[in-house]
Amino acid sequence: MRKNIVAGNWKMNTTLPEGLKLADEVNAALAAEKHNCDVIICVPFTHLAPVAAVIDQNVLGLGAENCADHTSGAYTGEVSAPMVASTGATYVILGHSERRQYYGETAATLREKVDLALAAGLTPIFCIGEVLAERENGTYNDVVKAQVEDALFHLSAEDFGKLILAYEPVWAIGTGKTATADQAEDMHAHIRGVIAAKYGEQVAQDTSILYGGSCKPSNAAELFAKPDVDGGLIGGASLKCADFMGIVKAF
Ligand code: PGA
Repeated sequence: MRKNIVAGNWKMNTTLPEGLKLADEVNAALAAEKHNCDVIICVPFTHLAPVAAVIDQNVLGLGAENCADHTSGAYTGEVSAPMVASTGATYVILGHSERRQYYGETAATLREKVDLALAAGLTPIFCIGEVLAERENGTYNDVVKAQVEDALFHLSAEDFGKLILAYEPVWAIGTGKTATADQAEDMHAHIRGVIAAKYGEQVAQDTSILYGGSCKPSNAAELFAKPDVDGGLIGGASLKCADFMGIVKAF
């Protein structure tokens, strides 16, 4: 069965000392209190190995926010999936809308990244979501379907089953404007239908689909109560331990 998951996406925030403090706080809070979901933090590359050394990954999973579309070689400034795995991290966010928008990531790049992440033993947290114009002109279901198909449908059912998906409407990211729980549920059910048509009902039912975009303690419970919303990918609210734990406790 699919898991309930709350994952933090720190983005380009925190110095290393700040990040270590935050990771330690979250780990301690999780160790102290019972919680009903898996919890993951995805942190800047510079923080991976030091954070891995201070957290208990049986309590708090660790991931990167991106990886390269090559394994090694003359790609100055890039960090590969095997390098991420060698820090002890086991997850990687791929296809975040900020990567697509600011760094030109395409479906072709993302196919490479997904393949290399899986080959390195990492679990991709793969992001999809429409922009505001696509929400308003009513093409959002087709846009998200194409994002899933173009970047992921080359995978075998076995490999697809290793993924976590995150639906993040771009108009809701960092804007304070959350999708309503009904909008999220409609899209998550749509995505599950797209997966079922390709890989069958069992794979679709077993895939965790997280919601992301201005998710916070005050709206998480309503979102997570929806049958096809299996948790959240949390940006801003993952940078304060109390806020992040407030979302974890929504389960
Ligand atoms: P937000 O970001 O929670 O700050 O809206 C979510 C994300 O981009 O993953």
